[in-house]
Amino acid sequence: YQVQMDANDLSKGTYDSYMLKEIDEQPAVLRRISEYYYSSEQDKLAPQLLDDLQKADRLYIVAAGTSYHAGLVARQLFEELADIPVEVQLASEFGYHMPKLSAHPFFIFLSQSGETADSRQVLDQVRHLNYPTLTITNVINSTLAREAEYSLPLCAGPEVAVASTKAYIAQIAVQAILAQKLGLRKKIAAASELDVAQQLGLAANAIQTIVDQKDYLEQLSHDYFAQQNAAFFIGRGNGYAVAIEAALKLKEVSYVHAEGFAAGELKHGTIALIEEQTPVVAFILEQSTAAHTRSNVKEVLSRGAHTLIISKQSLAQEGDQLVVADLDERLMPLVAIVPAQLFAYYTAVERGNDVDQPRNLAKSVTVE
Ligand code: G6P
Repeated sequence: YQVQMDANDLSKGTYDSYMLKEIDEQPAVLRRISEYYYSSEQDKLAPQLLDDLQKADRLYIVAAGTSYHAGLVARQLFEELADIPVEVQLASEFGYHMPKLSAHPFFIFLSQSGETADSRQVLDQVRHLNYPTLTITNVINSTLAREAEYSLPLCAGPEVAVASTKAYIAQIAVQAILAQKLGLRKKIAAASELDVAQQLGLAANAIQTIVDQKDYLEQLSHDYFAQQNAAFFIGRGNGYAVAIEAALKLKEVSYVHAEGFAAGELKHGTIALIEEQTPVVAFILEQSTAAHTRSNVKEVLSRGAHTLIISKQSLAQEGDQLVVADLDERLMPLVAIVPAQLFAYYTAVERGNDVDQPRNLAKSVTVE
């Protein structure tokens, strides 16, 4: 993979911050990934890699931070499209509390930077155990890429802002492609029924529609978050996975205390924290749980919460603050995260924070 970096990749251009530039680049990133992985000349997934994946009885996805959240989204893609059980693990926990492994594990390291120390120490351990390893990273000559048996590029272009945005959607997209290719090779029906390339195209258009509504998103950020000390994000299934990433974004750059919850867990404790005007953002992204999540929204609304619903078009109801285009449910996080990235950005700007270099954070953490 040739890193095609022109000077524009590393300059802010007309933007005030890298974070906003990188959010805006997301449609182009998805198109670049499709071009790279589906261009016909040569298959970018080595046959040996697919062979090793096919022999595995379980995938272990190991990552930290936002990359871990992208791993949570990938679990369902691998399980359904490639019919393989998946465990998603925090690198900082896994290295020291390794669960009993399956007979034929395959390890995937997800890392934007390819340098995260917690992930590196896990890679060291599993290499000593002689298990097959793949690093999926944005930095193709990074340590994790060099030290794993296989590596695949995210093709997101340099990500400079500390808060990760485009790398998250790239991680989901590349894993979707990999899951489908593995499923096709294993002749899994679900893999042939999903057109991942087409979905990535739809996602690119859907993200463009969201980033074109910046004035509205800025207004929502002002109305919901800028004056608050705490915010909650809820959802089920993939909506839950997006909720915890959305909360992380808001924490990282706006310093508003935010938490993501499984919508059904709210009533088991967290609902005690809901006060008059506490923002609660709900993701309604899957048919099977939409009604339950909507009743959770009613529960918090009746306790004074300031609720904001982000729904998928086919599940939208009148009054939802943001309706995003329909994709296959398994890929909805690609689109649903984008409004939350913009909430984090605009809230941080309104509060006068340094959005690209938030306090106490580093782009890549090279200590355990
Ligand atoms: C740091 C960054 C996060 C990132 C995490 C994992 O904490 O601030 O944005 O998600 O590391 O980084 P990686 O490069 O391994 O994806």
